[in-house]
Amino acid sequence: MRTRKLGKQGLEVSTMGLGCMGMTQSYPPFPEKNDMIKLIHQAVDLGVTFFDTAEAYGPYKNEELLGEALKPHRDKVIIATKFGFDLQGQRTGKSGKAISLDSRPETIRRAVDGILKRLKTDHIDLLYQHRVDPDVPIEEVAGTVKELIKEGKVLYWGISEPGVETVRRAHEVCPLSAIQSEYSMWYRNPEIELLPVLEELGIGFVPFSPLGKGFLTGNINKDTKFESTDFRNVIPRFNAENMDVNLVLADIVKEVAAKKGTTPAQVALSWILHQKPWIVPIPGTKKLERLKENIGATDVKFTKEELYELNQAISNIHIIGERYPEDQEKLTGI
Ligand SMILES: NC(=O)c1ccc[n+]([C@@H]2O[C@H](COP(=O)([O-])OP(=O)(O)OC[C@H]3O[C@@H](n4cnc5c(N)ncnc54)[C@H](OP(=O)(O)O)[C@@H]3O)[C@@H](O)[C@H]2O)c1
Repeated sequence: MRTRKLGKQGLEVSTMGLGCMGMTQSYPPFPEKNDMIKLIHQAVDLGVTFFDTAEAYGPYKNEELLGEALKPHRDKVIIATKFGFDLQGQRTGKSGKAISLDSRPETIRRAVDGILKRLKTDHIDLLYQHRVDPDVPIEEVAGTVKELIKEGKVLYWGISEPGVETVRRAHEVCPLSAIQSEYSMWYRNPEIELLPVLEELGIGFVPFSPLGKGFLTGNINKDTKFESTDFRNVIPRFNAENMDVNLVLADIVKEVAAKKGTTPAQVALSWILHQKPWIVPIPGTKKLERLKENIGATDVKFTKEELYELNQAISNIHIIGERYPEDQEKLTGI
């Protein structure tokens, strides 16, 4: 597989990454650990060098899985992980309310020590702040990561779901290699402010949920019943009423795929890759066939005219419903 550069600090990864969250959380059922280890090895064999996890996934289980699976391939792969949730419990923020974030310097350091153990490594390739902590100035976070880079524990860093002012301030203290935020045909908000700022500063972009959490693959409709603990049950844009309207988008993606002789998932991923050469999506799957299909999107090319037509068609669609429940939406764009 070809590679893409993320940022100007030297980070280079396979054009398609693999999001591993769904292997242990959010989208049950969760397969046996050994099956996921096998899948991760198959991803390496297929040329994937970019794996996404977080200490919050599980918590800890996902990193443990990756640590075990990728140990034999450690020097060939880039593992991205994230700190920033209060996993030890009960921190009270300035607001006086219990909040679920914690990016205090001592917590970042403790997180990094735990991550190194779970990933069975002596360095973290790419470390993101999972969500911006309103109680800790971003300069303090960036300064802490800068020290960790000097110590050799971290190679590159990034932030997930920041606002653009935070990006500028953080980058000033310690240059960012990548921002990871949601981006897909059904969530295009980053195009308004974030992508222009990343282009200006030379920072890479890693879109999460690039398949719209499965919505864009054509496999989900208003009659789809997720397991009771599936995160999509609480996402407003997945509720039956909103889905009725939103499915127009999935239908367009299906039509374009049929015309092009490819699959809807490949259209969704290839559309992202065509936006900028410094964007690397991280679709998540637990299935080998889908992994191959998603990697195959790197060979799906659109002409300028095809892309224009596709953009015209999707620009006219108004997606209904938030992408997160209210309490979680509040943690983004800070
Ligand atoms: N920074 C953050 O806050 C944040 C938030 C969410 C996610 N992420 C990261 O981004 C990664 C990807 O996001 P995501 O998993 O939420 O959403 P996604 O990649 O948009 O979609 C994953 C869903 O699509 C299904 N799928 C995957 N490939 C498919 C295909 N070719 N055909 C049909 N269905 C397919 C998967 O099911 P199967 O598994 O059954 O194939 C799963 O239900 C995560 O794994 C995680 O690492 C980060």
